[in-house]
Amino acid sequence: MLKISVIGTGYLGATHAACMAELGLEVVGVDTDAKKIEALAHGELPFYEPELPELLQKQVRAGKLKFTTDFNEISDCDVHFICVGTPQSKDGLAADLSYVNSAFAAVAKVAKNGSLLVGKSTVPVGTAEALAKTLPANLELAWNPEFLREGFAVEDTLRPNRLVIGVTSDRAENLLKEVYAENLKDQVPWVRADLPTAELVKVAANSFLATKISFINAMAEVCEAAGGDVTVLAKAIGYDPRIGNRFLQAGIGFGGGCLPKDIRAFMARAEELGASPALEFLREIDSINLRARQRVIDLVRSELALDLKSFRIAVLGAAFKPDSDDVRDSPALDIAAQIHAAGADVVVHDPKAIEPARKRFPNLQFATEIEECVKGADLILHLTEWKVYRELDPIRIKELVKQAKILDGRNALDRDKWRNAGWQFHALGRA
Ligand code: UGA
Repeated sequence: MLKISVIGTGYLGATHAACMAELGLEVVGVDTDAKKIEALAHGELPFYEPELPELLQKQVRAGKLKFTTDFNEISDCDVHFICVGTPQSKDGLAADLSYVNSAFAAVAKVAKNGSLLVGKSTVPVGTAEALAKTLPANLELAWNPEFLREGFAVEDTLRPNRLVIGVTSDRAENLLKEVYAENLKDQVPWVRADLPTAELVKVAANSFLATKISFINAMAEVCEAAGGDVTVLAKAIGYDPRIGNRFLQAGIGFGGGCLPKDIRAFMARAEELGASPALEFLREIDSINLRARQRVIDLVRSELALDLKSFRIAVLGAAFKPDSDDVRDSPALDIAAQIHAAGADVVVHDPKAIEPARKRFPNLQFATEIEECVKGADLILHLTEWKVYRELDPIRIKELVKQAKILDGRNALDRDKWRNAGWQFHALGRA
């Protein structure tokens, strides 16, 4: 049986480690954060991700998944997956590669002869080739980008829609085929590429997704100006299979730990390569995305008053998307914080993300119950499309608020249902 290590146990690493154990490998997860490792070793996940805690506990109990802070414990592994973060650097658009560099260096020190170091982190193109030059001759490097979505991390790892590997030898490819033997039985498309192409596939995919979202949000702006309805427009263009109906949900835009920082790092890298004109459009994608947040704030002012001081606003949703407790670059939380800064009395609810949100914005008020959140509100902002919000009864909620006004920032609520219950219902991109 192959033995692998997974370096970095955040969203990506913890999921990869548990899923690879589930697929039959012996796995050791490594992280420099002793508290995190301690929790994981007891089967506890430091973040919310559906299905992952059960899988983690099952594999830890079965003895197929271990966690350590000691790199010496991975010296007998055949393959090492580097899954550490590449956040936006503090002083610009580029990605901060310090975690990747130190993870590769730490593994190289202990790795046995002939083992394969596989990068999974999202990196600027050229990183893999540069890292390969730093490795001793008895070690090999490959790049294997990850496409999992938060909220569906387990499903996307156990049943990926494609596997992309950047390699420089047949031997590396064969070793990775052994790692992914179970996935390959399911006929998952297998794409072999060179190192720069494998790195580019990842940022190209995220740039395309970001572009789709900003495209529909640009259409939403035009719909608002022209008296159209972006939800009908999206449905109609989505029937064309060349366009497709996914990722055309207009609203307050994309956030999270990936899309925003990936498009920015991609632009920064293109500039270094002398190819900035090719990615100039991503600047516009970023601006459209950030403009959606401002449009909500403008709408709130036009609904209530320029000065928000005497108003109570209930915000439903803090996570950057449903089924996640991740608040990194969350459009919902950003809007809540801006409205709070403008003087309004803001109360935020989220089914899972209150604690991480409180850590980021300790001055915001939070409510653990929806009813407590909306009580006495002059306006409700629906900003993260959790299922519980779609299931709300507008008649019951109307009894709790001060004014029956709601703004759907995700185009996910049933407008007729709310209007029939006597609500003033507004949404982005719907006149
Ligand atoms: C994204 C990609 O979808 C994954 O394939 C990739 O692996 C991951 O980044 C990564 O690089 O690690 P994720 O950040 O989990 O995954 O979230 P998405 O589901 O892509 O959603 C991103 C944002 O776009 C969310 O804020 C969501 O609310 C927003 N969105 C999505 C829209 O505003 N409209 C849509 O139609 C779809």
